[in-house]
Amino acid sequence: MTERLFDDGDRTALDPLALFEEWFALAGEAEPNDPHAMALASVDADGMPDVRMVLLNARDERGFTFFTNFESTKGTQLLAQPKAAMVMHWKSLRRQVRMRGPVEVVTEAEADAYFASRPKGSQIASSASRQSRVLDSKLTLLDAVSLLATEIDDGVVPRPPHWSGFRLVPTSIEFWKDGEFRLHDRVRFTRTGAGQAWTSARLYP
Ligand SMILES: Cc1cc2nc3c(=O)[nH]c(=O)nc-3n(C[C@H](O)[C@H](O)[C@H](O)COP(=O)(O)O)c2cc1C
Repeated sequence: MTERLFDDGDRTALDPLALFEEWFALAGEAEPNDPHAMALASVDADGMPDVRMVLLNARDERGFTFFTNFESTKGTQLLAQPKAAMVMHWKSLRRQVRMRGPVEVVTEAEADAYFASRPKGSQIASSASRQSRVLDSKLTLLDAVSLLATEIDDGVVPRPPHWSGFRLVPTSIEFWKDGEFRLHDRVRFTRTGAGQAWTSARLYP
């Protein structure tokens, strides 16, 4: 599909979500570490942008999901201003995918299912971490982790109510591929909202 994406033919039959799958599969083969890592941008109450890496966890026709602590900086920013942008850059492929759109909170069932699938050590660590708050020393965190591990013993770690996921529902997805002499290829797909038709345009690099 990538050939058709950049050959300046009719793109109306191309589905950007299917294209993403094609690129993501290539990235999975090419990238030695975290092909599912993405930079996620949000804005604070003053409109000041903020950005950090997260892992793309799930993706389907509804959108692109990542999990985090809702009391973290990104969590509070996204709850207050539920819009985001993300970018994945696969260095080994020399390709980039960007997306923008509103974010929605995943269902409790989705959050429970993913939390339950994580290793117990990660469940305890994310439960004990007050993500993004000031930590006086590493020892304070390690003490909180061991206290919780002792309390849980061989029981099940409950998902903290503030630990869940956001789904970015893309209204724009751009595919970028490195070209010779910086004559890169870019095609951006846009739509007005979920379930609407995509239109696309080639952009100057
Ligand atoms: C490759 C990579 C993947 C990461 N994945 C996540 C993630 O899925 N969820 C998360 O909350 N933090 C993740 N982090 C940590 C975040 O980048 C960030 O440090 C943390 O979430 C706090 O960000 P905030 O203060 O803006 O909320 C990841 C960091 C890296 C480098």
